[in-house]
Amino acid sequence: MDASKDSAPDSAPDDATDAHLSRKTVLRAALAAGVALPAALMGVPALARTVGPDGGPLDVTPACDDGDDPTPPQMEGPYFKPNSPRRTSLVDGSTPGTRLTVTGYVFGLACQPLGNVLLDFWQADVNGVYDNAGFRFRGHQFTDAAGAFTLTTIVPGLYPGRTRHLHVKAQAPGRPVLTTQLYFPGEPRNSTDSLFDPRLLMAVRTVGSGREAKFDFVLNVSQTSTTKPTSTTTSSPGGGTWAAGTNYATGAHVTYGGTGYVCLQAHLAQPGWEPPNVPALWRAG
Ligand SMILES: [Fe+2]
Repeated sequence: MDASKDSAPDSAPDDATDAHLSRKTVLRAALAAGVALPAALMGVPALARTVGPDGGPLDVTPACDDGDDPTPPQMEGPYFKPNSPRRTSLVDGSTPGTRLTVTGYVFGLACQPLGNVLLDFWQADVNGVYDNAGFRFRGHQFTDAAGAFTLTTIVPGLYPGRTRHLHVKAQAPGRPVLTTQLYFPGEPRNSTDSLFDPRLLMAVRTVGSGREAKFDFVLNVSQTSTTKPTSTTTSSPGGGTWAAGTNYATGAHVTYGGTGYVCLQAHLAQPGWEPPNVPALWRAG
């Protein structure tokens, strides 16, 4: 309980990097080295929308990343309070701290977006203190029809015993609550916080004087895919034009828009996942 009274100097993650780039780099390195991708991806953020239902459902958050094993939800901790205000911004013009915008999507098991999902965020202030009397840095919102959300806040301060993190509860209508935490790459305490889970890393980059973070949730909600292939036994073609509904294997070559691409991860192609749109799945070559 004393943690709310303790304070630690806020230091924004100065080594926050463009995690998308890091991930792509890792993917390519793994591909070149013939390393199993899930192991190679440990410790780097992954976004659910960059992977797809390659013949089976996605894992549940926090394992919503390239088929890693499921991980249990994270503890709520002592500082959750119900009945937070409905708002997407937890700051005003005078709020101290490094501005942080968190965006992302909420998906179900078939990687279809989930709208009207309740997302309730809470976090420490710049000094690592939770507001247990009021509702500073607490707020809930609902995903839009596309499953998207945006949270405007600050980079939370550190408090004793924990690495930097956000708390969140996510609940699709009529479904159980997922309670978990989101983490920042490059934090020194990530390696010493026993709760830290690399599968819950956000992709964070510095933009001006602030930070932009991305994270996608996958909730344990069954969905019927609207893009089932006409054949589920299609193997990756060695060439040809990219086509939705095709199962592509790692290393498959296709053309799209006159450009050749190589498949980086086995997946079932879907509309909207054309090679230029999903660099985690395809690279030009
Ligand atoms: Fe916390």
